[in-house]
Amino acid sequence: QVHVKKICCIGAGYVGGPTMTVIAEKCPHITVTIVDVNPHRIAAWNSDDLPIYEPGLEDIVKAHRGTNLFFSTDIDKAIIEADMIFVSVNTPTKTQGLGKGFAADLKYVEACTRRIAAVAQSHKIVVEKSTVPCRTASSMRYILEANARPGLRFDILSSPEFLAEGSAIRDLHDPDRVLIGNLDTPEGHAAAQALVEVYANWVDRSKVVTTGLWSSELSKLAANAFLAQRISSINAMSAICEATGADVDEVAHAVGLDTRIGSKFLKASIGFGGSCFQKDLSNLVYLCHSLHLPEVATYWKSVLDMNDFQKRRFAQRVVASMFSTLTDKKITLFGFAFKNNTGDTRESPAITVAKYFREERANITIYDPKVPDRQVWLDLTEPGVVDDEIELRKTVSIKHDAYEAAEGADAIVICTDWEEFKNLDYERIYKGMGKPAFVFDGRLILDEKALKKIGFRVETIGRSGDNVGQEYRF
Ligand code: NAI
Repeated sequence: QVHVKKICCIGAGYVGGPTMTVIAEKCPHITVTIVDVNPHRIAAWNSDDLPIYEPGLEDIVKAHRGTNLFFSTDIDKAIIEADMIFVSVNTPTKTQGLGKGFAADLKYVEACTRRIAAVAQSHKIVVEKSTVPCRTASSMRYILEANARPGLRFDILSSPEFLAEGSAIRDLHDPDRVLIGNLDTPEGHAAAQALVEVYANWVDRSKVVTTGLWSSELSKLAANAFLAQRISSINAMSAICEATGADVDEVAHAVGLDTRIGSKFLKASIGFGGSCFQKDLSNLVYLCHSLHLPEVATYWKSVLDMNDFQKRRFAQRVVASMFSTLTDKKITLFGFAFKNNTGDTRESPAITVAKYFREERANITIYDPKVPDRQVWLDLTEPGVVDDEIELRKTVSIKHDAYEAAEGADAIVICTDWEEFKNLDYERIYKGMGKPAFVFDGRLILDEKALKKIGFRVETIGRSGDNVGQEYRF
């Protein structure tokens, strides 16, 4: 039985960083080293300005960094010293070749696996933390066995991460469950036990679930598919609400009271974003096609199609409400991150909406409390393809204060559900805006009645507008 003393995590991103920080916090007897090929990311982890924002993260990092938590670019050394290695690298959607647009690109997982095989000098437990297609562990095993020094044994576990960005620390401290998949061999069970022991330092044993390897891998894709499906389902209802006069929040509340359904994750919105749902569902769709299950593939693909429809539908409602033209109007986006409490913009619906407004020749101003300016410029340009930053700056500007961003705007579009947006002085904002002053609430977070009393024209997702919306319904 291995009792883990040294952990190496390959990949210092949104998952590797917080997950390993919490292991270091809860297991003072374990030394945790997080490594990455990106020296800038490692330097940021070692600085006062961490590369990712996550409530509560900074304090824990600062308390343990240099004691039993280390960030390094020396990948080989960390691999050699560790008993357990987590692979937490990115697994983006392939952009070319076989499975383009759907399949997961496993080149980073493969590169790490080959590195582990090349440098390991002793037995290692290798844990898949990245979200991967079902049976990836088997490919990793082939690579390890074909390349490692003779006689060296590797045990592979799957332990997908279920944390949500924005609440990562809370989710890691108090997870709904920790999933550990292992091969059904004595060595596989012993390896799983070693990881169970790590989590047992703070997670109730009843919440640590062990399964077969393939169930564990598939469970992660299944969980994200179910979560995304709930959002697309309520968003589909929001379209019906807007057309009928029903209120999607009331419908969600009534539906969610059924204990078989439950009330969580039933909030209508401008559409889901984030690095995982789009990617993991695409991955699942590809898996279904590979398994010759086209009907199942079509079923899950429709969840993605509904999300695209929702983003487009919302953007079109903005245009239709503003007398069918945005040319030279100033549209202010409140929020650019894909959800609150994170600076992450991957697949953020705000990007889609901003691009749509630009095509309508609007001038756009963006305010987000956490997204760095450089990220906005990156998200709105496709270097060498669409246009460059200089061109972009003629019609897009970024502000660091909500009131400044709203000054002179014709419309405010709520793209992210930041708490801050609920508590702004909208009387003050109204005074500085062009008239009629519009608010488009893509997150159902504002008090529509109060805004209307001030004089705003308000259009909320999942509710039919009562002003020009009636005449201009598309
Ligand atoms: P990320 O892109 O933030 O971080 C991945 C890191 O791995 C990058 O810093 C990259 O430089 C590094 N890397 C890539 N190849 C490497 C190599 N060969 N050697 C060393 N470092 C290498 O990605 P994120 O968001 O942390 O996701 C990682 C995995 O976790 C993905 O598979 C994702 O699907 C999964 N996941 C993500 C969640 C999230 O909320 N972001 C939640 C649950 C799972």
